[in-house]
Amino acid sequence: MNCVKNLWLASTVILVSLFIFYSISSSRAMQIFEYTGVKKCAMCHEAQHAVWSQSHHAKAFATLGTDKAKEIGKQQGIEDPQKSGQCLKCHVTGYGDKRKIIEEYGIQCESCHGAGKGYATEKIMKNLELSKEKGLIMPTEAVCKECHNSGSPTFKSFNFEKAFEMIKHQLAKK
Ligand code: HEC
Ligand code: HEC
Ligand code: HEC
Ligand code: HEC
Repeated sequence: MNCVKNLWLASTVILVSLFIFYSISSSRAMQIFEYTGVKKCAMCHEAQHAVWSQSHHAKAFATLGTDKAKEIGKQQGIEDPQKSGQCLKCHVTGYGDKRKIIEEYGIQCESCHGAGKGYATEKIMKNLELSKEKGLIMPTEAVCKECHNSGSPTFKSFNFEKAFEMIKHQLAKK
C-alpha cells in the first residue's frame, strides 16, 4: 500500500518538475528583440522615412519641450516633460525598457513595427513570415491605442481610419 502511494507521489513530483522545467525553458526561448533605430530602417526604406520625417510622430519628443507641454506638466507637478517618464512613455520609442535607442527622434518606426535588430537585414526582410518571427509587427488599430487613449493629457478621441490616412506610408501598388 505504502509502496504504491510512494510511487504515485514520486511520479507526481516528476511530472510537476517536468512541467516547471518546460515552462521555464519555453519562456527562455521567447526572444526579447533589441531596437536598432530609425536611421537603420531609413537605409532601405527611404520613401517611408521621408513620409515619417514630416509626421507628428517624428517630432513627439520635441513637442515635450514646448510651452504647451510645460503647462500640462505643471498641472501634474512635472517640472520638465522631456525628462519625465510620465510623458516620455508615449512620446519616444521604447522608453524605460533599457534597450538602447535615441529618444530625440520621437515615435520611430519600431514603436509601431516592433524592435528591429533581429529583422532589419535584406535577407530576412524579403521573407515576411521570417521577419515576423524575428519581431516585425504589421500594426493594427490596437497598436495605435497603446498611446492614443485617455492616458494622454490632450486626448479627445481616436478614429483609426482617419488617423491612418494621416500617417500612411505605403508605396503605390502596381
Ligand atoms: C537592409 C535593408 C533593410 C533594412 C535595414 C530594413 N528593411 Fe524593411 N524591408 C526590406 C525589404 C527588402 C523588404 C521587402 C519588401 C520590399 O521588397 O520592399 C522590407 C519590408 C518591410 C516591411 C513590409 C513588410 C510587408 O511585406 O508588407 C516593413 C513594415 C518593414 N520592412 C519595416 C522595416 C523597419 C521598421 C526597419 C527598421 C527597424 C526596416 N524595415 C529595416 C529591407 C530592409
Ligand atoms: C508609442 C506611442 C504611439 C503609437 C504606438 C502611435 N502614436 Fe500616433 N501619436 C503619438 C504621439 C505622442 C503623438 C503626438 C506627437 C506630437 O504632436 O508631437 C501622435 C500623433 C499622431 C497623429 C497626429 C495627431 C494630430 O491630430 O495632429 C496621428 C494622425 C497619429 N498619431 C496616428 C497614429 C496611428 C494611425 C497609429 C497606429 C498605426 C499611431 N498613431 C500610433 C504616439 C503614438
Ligand atoms: C498615453 C500616452 C501619452 C502620455 C502618457 C502623454 N502623451 Fe502627450 N500625446 C499623446 C498622443 C497620442 C498625442 C496626440 C493626440 C492626442 O492629443 O491625444 C499627444 C499629444 C501631446 C501634445 C500636443 C497636443 C497638441 O494639441 O498640440 C502635447 C503638448 C503633449 N502630448 C504633452 C504631453 C505631456 C506634457 C505629457 C506628460 C505630462 C504627455 N503628453 C503624456 C500621448 C501621450
Ligand atoms: C505610427 C505607427 C507607424 C510608424 C511610426 C511607422 N509605421 Fe510603417 N506602417 C504602419 C502601418 C499601420 C502600416 C500598414 C500595415 C498594413 O498594411 O497592414 C505600415 C506599413 C509599412 C510598410 C509597408 C508599406 C507597403 O507599401 O505596404 C513599410 C515598408 C513600413 N511601414 C516601414 C516603416 C518605416 C521604415 C518607418 C519609420 C521610418 C515606419 N514604417 C513607421 C505604422 C507605422
